[in-house]
Amino acid sequence: MLGFGCAESRSPSNSSGSDANANAGNSGISAGGSGASSGSASTAGAAQSTGGSGSSGMPGASGAMSSGAGGTMASGGAASAGAKNGGSAGASGMHAGGTAGAAGSSAGSGSTSLGSTPPMGWNSWNAYGCNGLNEAVVKSMADAFIATGMKDAGYEYVNLDDCWMDGRDASGKLKWNASKFPSGIPALAEYIHGKGLKIGIYETPNTKTCAALYGGYTAGVGSVGHETLDAQTFASWGIDYLKYDKCQGQLSAFAVMRDALKATGRPIFYSINPGDQGPFCTPTNCSLNLPLTANMWRIGFDISAKWSEVIRLIDANKDQYAGAGPGHWNDPDMLEVGNGLNDVEGRAHFSMWAIMAAPLITGNDLTKMSGATKATLTNAEVIAVDQDSLGKQGRVVATPGTNLEVWSKEMSGSNTRAVALFNRGTASASITVQWSQIGLPAGAASVRDLWAAKDLGAATGSYTATSVPSHSVVLLKIVSSP
Ligand code: GAL
Repeated sequence: MLGFGCAESRSPSNSSGSDANANAGNSGISAGGSGASSGSASTAGAAQSTGGSGSSGMPGASGAMSSGAGGTMASGGAASAGAKNGGSAGASGMHAGGTAGAAGSSAGSGSTSLGSTPPMGWNSWNAYGCNGLNEAVVKSMADAFIATGMKDAGYEYVNLDDCWMDGRDASGKLKWNASKFPSGIPALAEYIHGKGLKIGIYETPNTKTCAALYGGYTAGVGSVGHETLDAQTFASWGIDYLKYDKCQGQLSAFAVMRDALKATGRPIFYSINPGDQGPFCTPTNCSLNLPLTANMWRIGFDISAKWSEVIRLIDANKDQYAGAGPGHWNDPDMLEVGNGLNDVEGRAHFSMWAIMAAPLITGNDLTKMSGATKATLTNAEVIAVDQDSLGKQGRVVATPGTNLEVWSKEMSGSNTRAVALFNRGTASASITVQWSQIGLPAGAASVRDLWAAKDLGAATGSYTATSVPSHSVVLLKIVSSP
């Protein structure tokens, strides 16, 4: 984990199905309606005045990753015909109502809407931290998007996190760190756009970035008071995505940058982290109307590559489903697949981000992925769960045993659900989903195991996966038979 000193998030107390942001008919970020978001930046006038110095040191992570132990996925489990239909009073009707209010996207935009499905990409922080970020690394990731099939799988944003900058010039304009980025950010944007990808960057609504506040990166200056100029600078450089990280700034400053981005006319996806000290700011517990402020917001403190951390963020996110929808998503933080979790845990982590309609922002070294990591990150059927056009965030519909959960996500298409049978515990277990828990009619439904890429046939009323391994997920697509 590479975060700095922010307090732990707190689970929200409101777990009802109602939408606390009932007026959230759309996201606050207009796409501006002009220009393709992948257009390359003009480099004219983009040169900066000074060479800049190398960054001051702060501990960054090495890019090392361990692929960990293998494991097998439970794909078995007989359909238990008809036996358990209707057996779970109280948990039915999960998908009926209860999610009103958060639909719609990109108010006032012309033709383009941003984030109609959760963003997919890569970010430098988890693997490279502050010291490891540079132009060569970022270019190699863009290359790897193509070489590994990540781009074909849907990943598009190549994102620079903290520590790309070197203060401001005499006119107040942000400078990139010329030791790290000798060709400059506009040239890097052009390189990334040339591959049909998009580029993201990092700033904060304070005078310092988090790396400056907590890690000694003194060149990390924030955007507060400079929002208009910084947004224009980003637009002129060809930036497509901004991660705006609170870092002890004021919550009210998030709307200032939203408006500054909008005023540039360039579609720039707006990802915010509105939490640091004290309770985290979530849709059910925040003075900001998050869906009207940003395309995506962090709901908890920084992830790290440990199973307990994956669990912590799932638990922080599980009651936030009503705030998510096209154009505005909960963000349980970036992926740690390939950074130290074993392969079974990596698949479970990815499965749960998919069923939560979370952003799929990878955080590993894409140039050194194991076969298992690559297979996890590029699994088309699992990605399709995350990217489903209905934009529902899945939720827990049953807890059939200690450390056992059944999650369901309403999918586009009639009577279609993605279902995660989630074993959080340390021993393997059988897990059953009942149609009544997921709002499907009592009759027959087809069941497909997405990781096994296997149709399991029709089941009536319920389905049981047997021997679901510890720390794993059986991910199913269940469709009622006509
Ligand atoms: C943290 C943030 C991390 C990373 C870091 C950079 O506040 O949660 O994701 O951006 O700052 O300094």
